[in-house]
Amino acid sequence: MTVNRIFLSPPHMSGRELEYIKKVFESNYIAPLGEYVNKFEESVKKYTGAKYALALSSGTAAMHLALKVLQISDEDEVFASSLNFIGSVAPVKYERAALTFVDSDYKSWNMDPDLLRREFVKRVASSQKLPKAVILTHLYGQCAEIDTIKEICDYYNVYLIEDAAESLGAFYKGRHSGTFGDFGILSFNGNKILTTSGGGMLISNNKAFIDKARYYSTQAKEDKPYYEHTELGYNYRMSNVLAAIGVAQMEVLEERVRKKREIFDIYREELNESAEFMPELPNSRGNRWLTTTLFDTAPEKIIKALEIEDIEARPLWKPMHMQPVFKNSKALGGEISEKLFEKGVCLPSGTALECEDVLKIAKIVKKVID
Ligand SMILES: Cc1ncc(COP(=O)(O)O)c(C=O)c1O
Repeated sequence: MTVNRIFLSPPHMSGRELEYIKKVFESNYIAPLGEYVNKFEESVKKYTGAKYALALSSGTAAMHLALKVLQISDEDEVFASSLNFIGSVAPVKYERAALTFVDSDYKSWNMDPDLLRREFVKRVASSQKLPKAVILTHLYGQCAEIDTIKEICDYYNVYLIEDAAESLGAFYKGRHSGTFGDFGILSFNGNKILTTSGGGMLISNNKAFIDKARYYSTQAKEDKPYYEHTELGYNYRMSNVLAAIGVAQMEVLEERVRKKREIFDIYREELNESAEFMPELPNSRGNRWLTTTLFDTAPEKIIKALEIEDIEARPLWKPMHMQPVFKNSKALGGEISEKLFEKGVCLPSGTALECEDVLKIAKIVKKVID
Protein backbone atom coordinates (compact mmCIF):
# COMPACT_ATOMS: atom_id res chain seq x y z
CA MET A 1 0.00 0.00 0.00
CA THR A 2 1.34 3.44 -0.92
CA VAL A 3 0.36 6.96 0.17
CA ASN A 4 -1.22 7.35 -3.25
CA ARG A 5 -3.51 4.36 -2.81
CA ILE A 6 -7.00 4.95 -4.18
CA PHE A 7 -9.55 3.81 -1.59
CA LEU A 8 -13.12 2.82 -2.27
CA SER A 9 -14.74 5.77 -0.52
CA PRO A 10 -12.41 7.51 1.92
CA PRO A 11 -13.31 10.47 4.16
CA HIS A 12 -13.39 13.82 2.38
CA MET A 13 -13.27 16.82 4.66
CA SER A 14 -14.96 20.11 3.79
CA GLY A 15 -12.25 22.22 5.42
CA ARG A 16 -14.47 23.62 8.19
CA GLU A 17 -14.21 20.63 10.54
CA LEU A 18 -11.20 21.85 12.55
CA GLU A 19 -12.73 25.30 13.00
CA TYR A 20 -15.85 23.74 14.56
CA ILE A 21 -13.86 21.26 16.61
CA LYS A 22 -11.84 24.20 17.96
CA LYS A 23 -15.09 25.87 19.05
CA VAL A 24 -16.04 22.69 20.87
CA PHE A 25 -12.69 22.70 22.66
CA GLU A 26 -13.02 26.39 23.57
CA SER A 27 -16.42 25.70 25.13
CA ASN A 28 -15.01 22.61 26.90
CA TYR A 29 -18.14 20.69 25.89
CA ILE A 30 -15.95 17.86 24.65
CA ALA A 31 -18.45 15.31 25.89
CA PRO A 32 -20.98 14.00 26.22
CA LEU A 33 -23.41 16.36 24.46
CA GLY A 34 -23.33 20.05 23.54
CA GLU A 35 -24.25 22.67 21.00
CA TYR A 36 -22.87 20.82 17.96
CA VAL A 37 -24.91 17.69 18.63
CA ASN A 38 -28.04 19.88 18.46
CA LYS A 39 -26.74 21.67 15.36
CA PHE A 40 -25.96 18.40 13.63
CA GLU A 41 -29.42 17.01 14.39
CA GLU A 42 -31.01 20.25 13.17
CA SER A 43 -29.08 20.21 9.89
CA VAL A 44 -30.03 16.56 9.21
CA LYS A 45 -33.69 17.33 10.02
CA LYS A 46 -33.67 20.33 7.72
CA TYR A 47 -32.04 18.43 4.85
CA THR A 48 -34.08 15.21 5.11
CA GLY A 49 -37.38 16.74 6.21
CA ALA A 50 -37.55 14.31 9.17
CA LYS A 51 -39.32 15.92 12.14
CA TYR A 52 -37.07 14.37 14.81
CA ALA A 53 -33.47 13.17 14.87
CA LEU A 54 -31.14 11.62 17.43
CA ALA A 55 -27.36 11.63 16.91
CA LEU A 56 -25.78 8.35 17.99
CA SER A 57 -22.47 6.52 18.09
CA SER A 58 -23.16 4.42 14.97
CA GLY A 59 -25.75 3.35 12.43
CA THR A 60 -25.84 -0.07 14.08
CA ALA A 61 -26.71 1.60 17.41
CA ALA A 62 -29.48 3.54 15.61
CA MET A 63 -30.92 0.29 14.26
CA HIS A 64 -30.69 -1.32 17.68
CA LEU A 65 -32.61 1.52 19.30
CA ALA A 66 -35.29 1.47 16.58
CA LEU A 67 -35.87 -2.20 17.40
CA LYS A 68 -35.86 -1.53 21.16
CA VAL A 69 -38.45 1.23 20.81
CA LEU A 70 -40.66 -1.05 18.71
CA GLN A 71 -40.26 -3.66 21.48
CA ILE A 72 -38.94 -6.34 19.15
CA SER A 73 -38.26 -9.42 21.29
CA ASP A 74 -37.58 -13.14 21.07
CA GLU A 75 -41.26 -13.67 20.29
CA ASP A 76 -41.06 -11.61 17.10
CA GLU A 77 -39.84 -11.98 13.56
CA VAL A 78 -38.26 -9.25 11.44
CA PHE A 79 -37.95 -9.27 7.65
CA ALA A 80 -34.89 -7.60 6.15
CA SER A 81 -33.19 -7.04 2.80
CA SER A 82 -30.81 -9.90 2.15
CA LEU A 83 -28.35 -7.98 -0.02
CA ASN A 84 -27.16 -5.89 2.86
CA PHE A 85 -24.48 -5.00 5.39
CA ILE A 86 -24.55 -6.90 8.67
CA GLY A 87 -24.90 -3.76 10.83
CA SER A 88 -28.41 -3.50 9.44
CA VAL A 89 -29.55 -6.84 10.83
CA ALA A 90 -27.22 -7.91 13.67
CA PRO A 91 -29.30 -5.82 16.15
CA VAL A 92 -32.31 -8.07 15.39
CA LYS A 93 -30.25 -10.89 16.86
CA TYR A 94 -29.14 -8.74 19.84
CA GLU A 95 -32.85 -8.80 20.69
CA ARG A 96 -33.11 -12.54 19.89
CA ALA A 97 -35.87 -12.08 17.32
CA ALA A 98 -36.14 -14.32 14.25
CA LEU A 99 -34.80 -12.95 10.96
CA THR A 100 -36.19 -13.69 7.53
CA PHE A 101 -34.27 -12.36 4.55
CA VAL A 102 -36.03 -11.03 1.47
CA ASP A 103 -34.39 -11.20 -1.95
CA SER A 104 -33.75 -8.28 -4.32
CA ASP A 105 -35.34 -7.67 -7.71
CA TYR A 106 -33.39 -6.76 -10.84
CA LYS A 107 -35.39 -3.56 -11.22
CA SER A 108 -33.84 -1.95 -8.16
CA TRP A 109 -31.33 -4.49 -6.72
CA ASN A 110 -33.17 -3.66 -3.49
CA MET A 111 -35.96 -5.59 -1.70
CA ASP A 112 -38.48 -7.13 -4.08
CA PRO A 113 -41.91 -5.72 -3.13
CA ASP A 114 -43.78 -8.53 -4.93
CA LEU A 115 -41.98 -11.18 -2.90
CA LEU A 116 -42.87 -9.32 0.28
CA ARG A 117 -46.52 -8.92 -0.69
CA ARG A 118 -46.86 -12.57 -1.75
CA GLU A 119 -45.47 -13.77 1.59
CA PHE A 120 -47.83 -11.51 3.57
CA VAL A 121 -50.82 -12.69 1.51
CA LYS A 122 -49.81 -16.33 1.97
CA ARG A 123 -49.34 -15.97 5.72
CA VAL A 124 -52.65 -14.24 6.25
CA ALA A 125 -54.42 -16.88 4.15
CA SER A 126 -52.88 -19.66 6.26
CA SER A 127 -53.35 -17.79 9.57
CA GLN A 128 -49.59 -17.55 10.10
CA LYS A 129 -48.09 -14.71 12.12
CA LEU A 130 -46.73 -11.69 10.22
CA PRO A 131 -43.37 -10.16 11.08
CA LYS A 132 -43.44 -7.27 13.51
CA ALA A 133 -41.17 -5.12 11.35
CA VAL A 134 -39.51 -4.89 7.95
CA ILE A 135 -35.99 -3.48 7.58
CA LEU A 136 -35.64 -2.03 4.11
CA THR A 137 -32.15 -1.05 2.98
CA HIS A 138 -31.52 1.56 0.30
CA LEU A 139 -28.44 -0.17 -1.02
CA TYR A 140 -25.38 1.72 -2.22
CA GLY A 141 -27.37 4.95 -1.95
CA GLN A 142 -30.03 3.96 -4.48
CA CYS A 143 -33.65 4.09 -3.36
CA ALA A 144 -35.71 0.92 -3.02
CA GLU A 145 -39.29 0.90 -4.29
CA ILE A 146 -40.25 2.55 -1.07
CA ASP A 147 -43.81 3.67 -1.72
CA THR A 148 -44.97 0.14 -2.63
CA ILE A 149 -43.18 -1.38 0.35
CA LYS A 150 -44.63 1.25 2.68
CA GLU A 151 -48.10 0.61 1.27
CA ILE A 152 -47.72 -3.14 1.97
CA CYS A 153 -46.44 -2.54 5.52
CA ASP A 154 -49.22 -0.04 6.24
CA TYR A 155 -51.88 -2.37 4.88
CA TYR A 156 -50.70 -5.28 7.04
CA ASN A 157 -49.89 -3.14 10.06
CA VAL A 158 -46.19 -4.03 10.10
CA TYR A 159 -43.57 -1.50 11.25
CA LEU A 160 -41.15 -0.24 8.60
CA ILE A 161 -37.55 0.71 9.43
CA GLU A 162 -35.59 2.16 6.54
CA ASP A 163 -31.88 1.57 6.53
CA ALA A 164 -30.66 4.75 4.88
CA ALA A 165 -27.10 4.27 6.19
CA GLU A 166 -25.75 4.46 2.64
CA SER A 167 -28.38 6.78 1.20
CA LEU A 168 -28.00 10.20 2.78
CA GLY A 169 -28.76 12.55 -0.12
CA ALA A 170 -31.06 10.07 -1.91
CA PHE A 171 -34.66 11.09 -2.58
CA TYR A 172 -37.69 9.14 -3.77
CA LYS A 173 -40.51 11.17 -5.32
CA GLY A 174 -38.97 14.27 -3.75
CA ARG A 175 -38.90 12.81 -0.25
CA HIS A 176 -35.68 11.82 1.49
CA SER A 177 -34.95 8.11 1.97
CA GLY A 178 -35.46 7.13 5.60
CA THR A 179 -38.46 9.43 6.14
CA PHE A 180 -41.21 7.14 4.82
CA GLY A 181 -41.15 4.47 7.51
CA ASP A 182 -41.55 4.53 11.30
CA PHE A 183 -37.80 5.04 11.58
CA GLY A 184 -34.85 5.77 9.31
CA ILE A 185 -31.24 5.11 10.24
CA LEU A 186 -28.16 6.92 8.93
CA SER A 187 -24.48 6.07 9.24
CA PHE A 188 -21.49 8.42 9.29
CA ASN A 189 -18.74 5.82 9.41
CA GLY A 190 -15.50 6.39 7.57
CA ASN A 191 -16.57 5.30 4.10
CA LYS A 192 -19.99 6.95 3.95
CA ILE A 193 -20.84 9.98 1.81
CA LEU A 194 -20.36 12.07 4.97
CA THR A 195 -18.36 10.95 7.94
CA THR A 196 -17.95 11.92 11.57
CA SER A 197 -15.17 9.27 11.80
CA GLY A 198 -17.85 7.07 13.33
CA GLY A 199 -21.46 7.85 14.07
CA GLY A 200 -25.08 7.42 13.17
CA MET A 201 -28.50 8.99 13.45
CA LEU A 202 -32.01 7.81 14.07
CA ILE A 203 -34.71 9.82 12.32
CA SER A 204 -38.49 9.67 12.63
CA ASN A 205 -41.63 11.75 12.35
CA ASN A 206 -42.85 10.24 15.60
CA LYS A 207 -41.83 12.31 18.64
CA ALA A 208 -42.65 9.60 21.18
CA PHE A 209 -40.40 7.14 19.31
CA ILE A 210 -37.41 9.47 19.30
CA ASP A 211 -37.98 10.46 22.95
CA LYS A 212 -37.96 6.79 23.90
CA ALA A 213 -34.83 6.16 21.80
CA ARG A 214 -33.12 9.11 23.52
CA TYR A 215 -33.96 7.57 26.90
CA TYR A 216 -32.45 4.22 25.87
CA SER A 217 -29.39 5.90 24.36
CA THR A 218 -28.35 7.45 27.67
CA GLN A 219 -28.60 4.47 30.04
CA ALA A 220 -32.40 4.67 30.50
CA LYS A 221 -32.23 7.23 33.30
CA GLU A 222 -35.52 8.04 34.95
CA ASP A 223 -36.52 11.66 35.41
CA LYS A 224 -35.28 11.90 38.99
CA PRO A 225 -32.67 14.08 40.71
CA TYR A 226 -30.61 10.92 41.31
CA TYR A 227 -29.82 7.98 39.01
CA GLU A 228 -32.73 5.59 38.93
CA HIS A 229 -33.27 2.91 36.30
CA THR A 230 -36.33 0.78 35.73
CA GLU A 231 -35.03 -0.56 32.39
CA LEU A 232 -31.64 -1.30 30.88
CA GLY A 233 -30.32 1.24 28.43
CA TYR A 234 -27.16 1.84 26.39
CA ASN A 235 -24.36 4.35 26.05
CA TYR A 236 -25.06 5.23 22.41
CA ARG A 237 -25.03 9.05 22.14
CA MET A 238 -22.69 10.91 19.77
CA SER A 239 -20.04 13.17 21.29
CA ASN A 240 -20.02 16.92 20.66
CA VAL A 241 -16.55 16.66 19.03
CA LEU A 242 -17.78 14.22 16.39
CA ALA A 243 -20.99 16.19 15.85
CA ALA A 244 -18.83 19.24 15.01
CA ILE A 245 -17.31 17.20 12.16
CA GLY A 246 -20.83 16.25 11.09
CA VAL A 247 -21.99 19.88 10.94
CA ALA A 248 -19.07 20.80 8.67
CA GLN A 249 -19.72 17.73 6.50
CA MET A 250 -23.43 18.51 6.09
CA GLU A 251 -22.49 21.87 4.57
CA VAL A 252 -21.06 20.08 1.52
CA LEU A 253 -23.55 17.22 1.19
CA GLU A 254 -25.13 18.35 -2.08
CA GLU A 255 -21.65 18.95 -3.55
CA ARG A 256 -20.68 15.41 -2.54
CA VAL A 257 -23.80 13.91 -4.14
CA ARG A 258 -23.07 15.83 -7.34
CA LYS A 259 -19.52 14.49 -7.38
CA LYS A 260 -20.58 10.89 -6.68
CA ARG A 261 -23.03 11.11 -9.55
CA GLU A 262 -20.39 12.63 -11.82
CA ILE A 263 -18.05 9.72 -11.03
CA PHE A 264 -20.86 7.29 -11.85
CA ASP A 265 -21.48 9.08 -15.19
CA ILE A 266 -17.82 8.71 -16.16
CA TYR A 267 -17.79 5.00 -15.38
CA ARG A 268 -21.03 4.53 -17.29
CA GLU A 269 -19.73 6.42 -20.29
CA GLU A 270 -16.52 4.37 -20.32
CA LEU A 271 -17.85 0.90 -19.44
CA ASN A 272 -21.42 0.90 -20.67
CA GLU A 273 -20.90 -1.69 -23.37
CA SER A 274 -19.60 -4.40 -21.06
CA ALA A 275 -21.18 -3.60 -17.71
CA GLU A 276 -24.61 -3.40 -16.15
CA PHE A 277 -24.95 -0.64 -13.60
CA MET A 278 -27.12 -0.53 -10.51
CA PRO A 279 -30.41 1.00 -11.68
CA GLU A 280 -32.02 4.17 -10.46
CA LEU A 281 -35.78 3.86 -10.07
CA PRO A 282 -37.95 6.39 -11.91
CA ASN A 283 -38.77 9.43 -9.78
CA SER A 284 -35.77 8.88 -7.54
CA ARG A 285 -32.37 10.47 -7.19
CA GLY A 286 -29.81 8.17 -5.67
CA ASN A 287 -26.58 9.49 -4.18
CA ARG A 288 -24.48 6.92 -6.09
CA TRP A 289 -22.51 6.36 -2.88
CA LEU A 290 -20.63 3.58 -4.64
CA THR A 291 -20.73 2.92 -8.35
CA THR A 292 -21.69 -0.76 -8.53
CA THR A 293 -21.63 -2.81 -11.70
CA LEU A 294 -22.14 -6.34 -12.94
CA PHE A 295 -19.57 -7.83 -15.30
CA ASP A 296 -19.37 -11.15 -17.09
CA THR A 297 -15.75 -11.37 -15.93
CA ALA A 298 -15.30 -12.72 -12.40
CA PRO A 299 -15.15 -9.86 -9.86
CA GLU A 300 -11.91 -11.29 -8.36
CA LYS A 301 -10.08 -10.70 -11.65
CA ILE A 302 -11.14 -7.06 -11.80
CA ILE A 303 -10.44 -6.46 -8.12
CA LYS A 304 -7.00 -8.07 -8.47
CA ALA A 305 -6.08 -6.02 -11.54
CA LEU A 306 -6.97 -2.84 -9.66
CA GLU A 307 -5.15 -3.98 -6.52
CA ILE A 308 -1.91 -4.35 -8.52
CA GLU A 309 -2.23 -0.62 -9.25
CA ASP A 310 -2.92 0.08 -5.56
CA ILE A 311 -6.58 0.75 -6.18
CA GLU A 312 -9.25 -0.62 -3.83
CA ALA A 313 -12.39 -2.25 -5.25
CA ARG A 314 -14.72 -4.77 -3.60
CA PRO A 315 -17.33 -7.39 -4.37
CA LEU A 316 -20.94 -6.50 -3.61
CA TRP A 317 -22.20 -7.36 -0.11
CA LYS A 318 -22.44 -11.10 0.34
CA PRO A 319 -26.18 -11.69 0.89
CA MET A 320 -27.17 -12.20 4.50
CA HIS A 321 -28.97 -15.47 3.75
CA MET A 322 -25.58 -16.88 2.63
CA GLN A 323 -23.78 -15.83 5.83
CA PRO A 324 -22.77 -18.69 8.14
CA VAL A 325 -23.82 -16.64 11.16
CA PHE A 326 -27.42 -16.60 9.85
CA LYS A 327 -27.54 -20.25 8.81
CA ASN A 328 -30.66 -20.78 10.94
CA SER A 329 -32.57 -17.85 9.46
CA LYS A 330 -35.18 -18.18 6.72
CA ALA A 331 -35.01 -16.62 3.29
CA LEU A 332 -37.61 -15.64 0.72
CA GLY A 333 -36.02 -16.26 -2.65
CA GLY A 334 -32.31 -15.50 -2.84
CA GLU A 335 -31.27 -16.24 -6.40
CA ILE A 336 -31.15 -12.64 -7.52
CA SER A 337 -28.99 -11.35 -4.67
CA GLU A 338 -26.74 -14.40 -5.17
CA LYS A 339 -26.33 -13.53 -8.85
CA LEU A 340 -25.64 -9.88 -8.00
CA PHE A 341 -23.01 -10.99 -5.50
CA GLU A 342 -21.47 -13.38 -8.01
CA LYS A 343 -21.04 -10.74 -10.71
CA GLY A 344 -20.93 -7.41 -8.90
CA VAL A 345 -18.06 -5.04 -8.22
CA CYS A 346 -18.02 -1.79 -6.23
CA LEU A 347 -15.72 0.65 -7.97
CA PRO A 348 -13.77 3.43 -6.24
CA SER A 349 -16.15 6.34 -5.72
CA GLY A 350 -14.35 8.77 -3.39
CA THR A 351 -15.46 12.35 -3.93
CA ALA A 352 -11.90 13.66 -3.93
CA LEU A 353 -11.08 11.64 -7.06
CA GLU A 354 -10.12 13.60 -10.15
CA CYS A 355 -11.82 12.79 -13.46
CA GLU A 356 -8.46 11.47 -14.71
CA ASP A 357 -8.33 8.99 -11.81
CA VAL A 358 -11.77 7.65 -12.71
CA LEU A 359 -10.78 7.38 -16.37
CA LYS A 360 -7.62 5.53 -15.32
CA ILE A 361 -9.63 3.06 -13.21
CA ALA A 362 -12.13 2.51 -16.05
CA LYS A 363 -9.23 1.84 -18.42
CA ILE A 364 -7.77 -0.85 -16.15
CA VAL A 365 -11.20 -2.46 -15.81
CA LYS A 366 -11.75 -2.35 -19.57
CA LYS A 367 -8.46 -4.14 -20.15
CA VAL A 368 -9.59 -7.01 -17.93
CA ILE A 369 -13.10 -7.37 -19.31
CA ASP A 370 -12.48 -6.85 -23.04
C1 LIG B 1 -26.54 -0.71 4.87
C2 LIG B 1 -25.85 -0.41 6.17
N1 LIG B 1 -26.52 -0.59 7.31
C3 LIG B 1 -25.98 -0.32 8.50
C4 LIG B 1 -24.69 0.15 8.61
C5 LIG B 1 -24.12 0.33 9.97
O1 LIG B 1 -23.61 1.59 10.21
P1 LIG B 1 -22.37 1.80 11.21
O2 LIG B 1 -21.15 1.28 10.54
O3 LIG B 1 -22.34 3.29 11.41
O4 LIG B 1 -22.70 1.07 12.46
C6 LIG B 1 -23.95 0.38 7.44
C7 LIG B 1 -22.59 0.94 7.43
O5 LIG B 1 -21.62 0.58 7.84
C8 LIG B 1 -24.54 0.06 6.18
O6 LIG B 1 -23.84 0.19 5.06
